Amino acid sequence: MLGSGLGAFADGLTDAVRIPYAQIPSFPRSTAVGHASQFVVGKSGDVPVAVLQGRAHLYEGYSPEEVSVPTRVLGRMGVRAVVLTNAAGGVNLDYGQGALVVIRDHINLQGRNPLVGANEDRFGPRFPDMTYTYTKSYREVALEEAKKLGIPPREGVYAGVLGPSFETPAEIRFLRTIGADLVGMSTIPEAIAARHMGMNVLAISCVTNMAAGILDQPLSHEEVLETTARVMGQFIALLRAVLPRISELAASIE
Ligand code: HPA
Repeated sequence: MLGSGLGAFADGLTDAVRIPYAQIPSFPRSTAVGHASQFVVGKSGDVPVAVLQGRAHLYEGYSPEEVSVPTRVLGRMGVRAVVLTNAAGGVNLDYGQGALVVIRDHINLQGRNPLVGANEDRFGPRFPDMTYTYTKSYREVALEEAKKLGIPPREGVYAGVLGPSFETPAEIRFLRTIGADLVGMSTIPEAIAARHMGMNVLAISCVTNMAAGILDQPLSHEEVLETTARVMGQFIALLRAVLPRISELAASIE
């Protein structure tokens, strides 16, 4: 699942079939700039992949259930390994703009959960465990492959907020205090829905900007897109290196 400004990965797939979300029943359409809205099935090297080029966000007014429909579809298609990507603000002062960070864990501050309501027993249990949300062996692979590519290997905790306004400096100090390294407006509904269905999850953030108040300057969506455009090459190289390895692991992990 490709985050804001990160859609170009899907353009490099071979044997690709592209289906606009508008043609898929129940699929939410992304209205955010920087998101195409198509489901692409193809190959990355030798690895068969289903790519969601563009995601819907809670801040667009979609319900958590709507936001997680594409994840549910992947689960029902038999996908075992999900890679979630996003643009995020850097809360950890050791990060810089353009850093790629593997998500170790998350803090859900969106006030929403895609599993609210009657449980769909075909999908998973009423009270799914979230201790191992981001699969350890996948994180290790991502850090190893980052190192090989000369990308500093970083891991962090992602705080998910509702948006769409960016955070205040006080909110960023709060997030740092509670243990967040990154902040963003996506990913958590998909991670919860994927874990509910027993899929293994890897998530990677692109630090598109340092979070509010760290630098004495305003934040903008243009800055987010400029940074993703700048690190796109590295980001695609990392995904292409990670996919064959986690696809091999997917066969063996529960
Ligand atoms: N905050 C929240 N979401 C984001 C940010 C940010 O600073 N940057 C990119 N997505």
